[in-house]
Amino acid sequence: MTGNPDVLRVAIVGCGGIARSHGRAYAADPRVELVAVHDVSPAAAQAFADEVGATAINSLADLAALDVQLVSVCTPPGTHTDTTVELLGLGVCVLLEKPPTVNLADMDRIAQAEAVAPGSVFVVFQHRHGSGAKRAHRLLADGSLGVPQVAVCETLWYRPDSYFDPEWRGNWVGEGGGPTLGHGIHQIDLLLHLLGEWSTVDAVAARVARPVEFEDVSTASVTFTSGAVASVTTSLLSPRETSRIRIDTTGGTLEVEHLYGYADADWSWYPLPDARTAAANGQDPGAGRRNADHDGSLQDVWTASAGEDVPSNHAAQIHDLVGDLLAGRPHPTTLASTRPTMEFVTALYASSLEGGTVARADLTPDRPFYRSLDGGLSAQRVSARLTRA
Ligand SMILES: NC(=O)c1ccc[n+]([C@@H]2O[C@H](COP(=O)([O-])OP(=O)(O)OC[C@H]3O[C@@H](n4cnc5c(N)ncnc54)[C@H](O)[C@@H]3O)[C@@H](O)[C@H]2O)c1
Repeated sequence: MTGNPDVLRVAIVGCGGIARSHGRAYAADPRVELVAVHDVSPAAAQAFADEVGATAINSLADLAALDVQLVSVCTPPGTHTDTTVELLGLGVCVLLEKPPTVNLADMDRIAQAEAVAPGSVFVVFQHRHGSGAKRAHRLLADGSLGVPQVAVCETLWYRPDSYFDPEWRGNWVGEGGGPTLGHGIHQIDLLLHLLGEWSTVDAVAARVARPVEFEDVSTASVTFTSGAVASVTTSLLSPRETSRIRIDTTGGTLEVEHLYGYADADWSWYPLPDARTAAANGQDPGAGRRNADHDGSLQDVWTASAGEDVPSNHAAQIHDLVGDLLAGRPHPTTLASTRPTMEFVTALYASSLEGGTVARADLTPDRPFYRSLDGGLSAQRVSARLTRA
């Protein structure tokens, strides 16, 4: 036991690919002691334990004797719920990888366990934690960037057929959902984080080319309670890969374009020139200028808000979380804060597989999509909807 209030004792469950990102972020933080790691594969656990200098433990129950305060859950999505509920029962906080669960029923099961546990659940959505998104969130919330009206959210990635070779990939049982749940969710979460409450979704999910049970591309039209509208596309068929969010407000255009993580330089703000300045310059009033100074000397509100450049990666979120836990502050990326994102993904599948508009209020526990993203439909029915056969 440490007894040192300035040091957070952590563990990692699931010792595969993304566990390395957690391990590196914890190792780089002097306020953290990485005590233990666990995997269903003892060999995987031991190899990772050797890499990070921690103890490989055989079961989650072994954590109880190690005075651990925070556990990263880096296991496949379908195992997140049972693992997290068990960890909450041990009294620890959990940092749960995305997607938090594979359906809303599981999410609510974790929330019920969290409500009676001493620990809390936080979800990895690292793109909320780069300096660009923090500035965007703050300046949109206080109105400095104007009122959002139109947005575009794109996750245009490429995965060849061979990507789906592992037996848990490409099927509902193994992944819980297609790329909308597994890949697009990062950009979708950031869009919803920036724009606030959504109200309706009209979607098309299609299986165009890949050997999978679910979609390989989806598009959705979304309305927000603010009156703003957005289009959201997620694809695994796009050779020039990009991740992009563009928000047109009454004051200008805010845009971020990156692939798997952004830095400040990936963000831009095109302020709308006021009509008089534009006319004096012989410009069309609608023609914005990248990070322009209206009078050649004043900085626009976006440029003026620049501070330390923090890229959006695991280190950024883990740095924030460790600081918040040690200081006894609330950490913003709670399980509850990510429910609108899971609701959006659920609505997208419900709209595309059943047809029609799905409202947030429709996602009640009596709907089959609440329990599984294929809505409990037969494979034949799902295929017919995805291929419009
Ligand atoms: N935030 C991101 O950018 C990001 C990127 C990649 C993956 N992920 C997420 O991280 C999670 C893991 O993905 P990955 O690519 O590391 O997978 P992976 O297959 O590389 O590793 C998963 C590990 O978990 C172990 N495991 C499986 N079931 C377990 C259980 N019940 N208890 C303990 N260990 C168990 C496996 O043996 C394996 O070692 C997924 O939820 C994925 O969506 C997030």
